[in-house]
Amino acid sequence: MADLRINLAGIQSPNPFWLASAPPTNSGYQVQRAFEAGWGGAVWKTLGDPILNVSSRFAAVSFNGQKVAGFNNIELITDRPLEVNLKEIYETKKKFPNHAIIASLMVEPKQEKWHEIVKRVEDVASMDLN
Ligand SMILES: Cc1cc2nc3c(=O)[nH]c(=O)nc-3n(C[C@H](O)[C@H](O)[C@H](O)COP(=O)(O)O)c2cc1C
Repeated sequence: MADLRINLAGIQSPNPFWLASAPPTNSGYQVQRAFEAGWGGAVWKTLGDPILNVSSRFAAVSFNGQKVAGFNNIELITDRPLEVNLKEIYETKKKFPNHAIIASLMVEPKQEKWHEIVKRVEDVASMDLN
């Protein structure tokens, strides 16, 4: 079989086919099934703390008098608690150590909030996988 392994800015993955951060990457179950099906990486559905404003929206944006030039954000971040996502990221990484998992993060624009969530994610990334 062809060798499709990649190294993207130091992130290694069995192939360059990754899932974007969206509903298909909202849980460990989904990401693990995707990896089993052959995807090489996944950007986990955006993690936030606290979880705010996750109801589905489908509002059209008009431009220059023209209707539906685009859509607003349909959905923002995961509706699942940070602790649960971090635990599932760890479990997924343990099961698929060679696959790429990227954490997408969104918190208030306060430096300490960003430091805190980045540290929590980094702690998971550096946990012993054995
Ligand atoms: C329903 C839905 C939910 C999404 N949720 C997120 C998200 O949580 N975080 C994020 O960074 N992008 C999110 N996205 C954006 C996708 O990651 C992606 O950037 C977007 O769908 C464009 O890629 P595409 O042209 O391949 O669809 C979402 C997109 C959709 C349609």
